[in-house]
Amino acid sequence: MQVLALAARGTHDLVARECRALGLPVERTAGDGVWMDLTPEQTAKALVGLRIASRLLLHLGGFHAEDAESLYEGAWDLDWPRWMNADATFAVHASGDLIPSTPERRGLDHHLFVSLKVKDAIADRLTRKLGRRPNVAREDPEIRVVVRGRRGRWDVFLDLADPPLHHRGHRAQPGPAPLKETLAAAVVEVVDWRGQGRLHDPTCGSGTLVIEAVNRHLGIPPGCTRWFGVERWPHHGETMQQHLDEERRKGVDHAKSAISKAKGLDVLATDLYPDAIEAVRANLIASGLDGIVRVEQLDAAKLAPPPAGTTIVCNPPYGQRLGGEGVEDLFRSLGDAWRGFTGVTAWVLEGHEGFQAAFGMADTGHQDFSNGPLPVTLRRYALGRVAKANA
Ligand SMILES: C[S@@+](CC[C@H](N)C(=O)[O-])C[C@H]1O[C@@H](n2cnc3c(N)ncnc32)[C@H](O)[C@@H]1O
Repeated sequence: MQVLALAARGTHDLVARECRALGLPVERTAGDGVWMDLTPEQTAKALVGLRIASRLLLHLGGFHAEDAESLYEGAWDLDWPRWMNADATFAVHASGDLIPSTPERRGLDHHLFVSLKVKDAIADRLTRKLGRRPNVAREDPEIRVVVRGRRGRWDVFLDLADPPLHHRGHRAQPGPAPLKETLAAAVVEVVDWRGQGRLHDPTCGSGTLVIEAVNRHLGIPPGCTRWFGVERWPHHGETMQQHLDEERRKGVDHAKSAISKAKGLDVLATDLYPDAIEAVRANLIASGLDGIVRVEQLDAAKLAPPPAGTTIVCNPPYGQRLGGEGVEDLFRSLGDAWRGFTGVTAWVLEGHEGFQAAFGMADTGHQDFSNGPLPVTLRRYALGRVAKANA
């Protein structure tokens, strides 16, 4: 099966690397992510094991269309009866480039319009074949069809994971402004903490970064306690189900053993606010890591110097809660408090244009990502020996 592992901005190479690390045959990295030709066994491995990819999509086909009629025809021609029946509910979600309308021709100038055209093609085709019209369900469909447009080419997929891969199945409480687990996984992949020295998130919120870092270090597959959209498809086949059950079972067995053997890790999650402390505690219990990660209510601007060799990783507030000036005061206090931490590396994921100047240190490297629609940057600081930035 042709499968696309979707990669968010800044994560293409990381997704290709994690696919290879799972033993998956990467064909190419292009545009939206990483393309692979997978067996059902490999698909199950990808669903359960991918940390950074945002979705896993089964490619049904692609065609060129610049108007509504050719979009309808292109969608009609795909092999819907192979994957759907009249009892399964479905929804269509379109994204990507649009084609403007002209006086002579109704273009494809709205994602909702594209979705409706493809939905009509699928429903008409199945009605013709099966004698009954399948039901559309905007909320919680059994089959999610994804249409992605690029310069007049439309690629049509079924979403194998649905809900997306950042749903790990262990978030009990969201906290004030949670990171997506897939972005947190990209961050901890770059940070590459391997259990050496302390790992501390001083603005931990719901704890996503420490949970992803510990799971990565212990090799716990992110999808071993969740279900996947493909399990609700009428025709996915028994083999896929067996492989998924097997991958999850292996993952859970490994998690139990890795957690019970994880002695001597020094992982700390702290936050100033009680709602965050409550959320991180609940999420650690739900993910089974409550015996590994210590939680404390602390002001990140008043930390005692951590032991040399500590890795700090955090995403401080973006400013919505504190407002522009309030948040820059916080960045200034963090920079002043942390500047002298000898032998400590800090990784800060920030999305505020005044961050660098307020934090007041020059980074020693950075990488751009997106947090939903917000561009964010992961910056590395070698504390204790950094010059004051002129920024
Ligand atoms: C963007 S959120 C972090 C989200 C977190 N990474 C997650 O995935 O849930 C920023 C966090 O900084 C915390 N915070 C704000 N000011 C703080 C301070 N002075 N000390 C410690 N934490 C602070 C907020 O309570 C919030 O949980």
